[in-house]
Amino acid sequence: MSMRRLVLALAVVLAPSAYAADPLRLGKPVPADVVAAWDTTVFPDGRGLPQGGGTAEQGRAIYDAKCSNCHGPEGRGETAEELVGREIPLTDPDTAQTIGSFWPYATTLFDYTRRAMPMDKPGSLSVDEAYAVAAYLLQLNGVVAPGDVMNAQSLPKVQMPNRDGFKRIDAK
Ligand code: HEC
Repeated sequence: MSMRRLVLALAVVLAPSAYAADPLRLGKPVPADVVAAWDTTVFPDGRGLPQGGGTAEQGRAIYDAKCSNCHGPEGRGETAEELVGREIPLTDPDTAQTIGSFWPYATTLFDYTRRAMPMDKPGSLSVDEAYAVAAYLLQLNGVVAPGDVMNAQSLPKVQMPNRDGFKRIDAK
């Protein structure tokens, strides 16, 4: 070992450090409210859906204010993903994987939207806003009616057009 390396090795071994107080460096317990803010997983069968609800009629204004700048009016034609339409079959190379053409479950649409959107402010939607905006996107795709209330009971029952295009894997 070169002298330089020896000195470096000794410096590491001898350095007084925080390791002495917390030798395993396992971190600290996460407060319950921080866990709760992240613990929002909704499974395809609807487990994890919170209390609350909303309709497409309510979701329209939320969508226009918080989503349309990226996803376009009525879910098409802006810079971010197309959310609406299923005219072009998925087998066509020019297709867009929209909610109507691709998503197998309405429940995971709710989860994704609440968790990740709007992309510039993820996690900012209330539960009712997330239900309402999901209802609106489902209505634009012709899957539910404008006045249908989407909530923990109704969302799992929504039959998505491409449901059978996926093989189901049951999450335990
Ligand atoms: C700042 C721009 C921006 C805003 C605002 C925004 N989105 Fe998005 N959204 C994106 C981008 C970019 C993606 C693609 C993300 C990716 O593929 O990882 C996306 C993806 C999505 C998807 C998944 C599309 C798919 O089929 O893969 C949904 C659903 C969605 N957004 C809904 C919403 C809703 C609802 C809102 C409003 C509450 C919203 N977004 C606001 C930029 C935005």
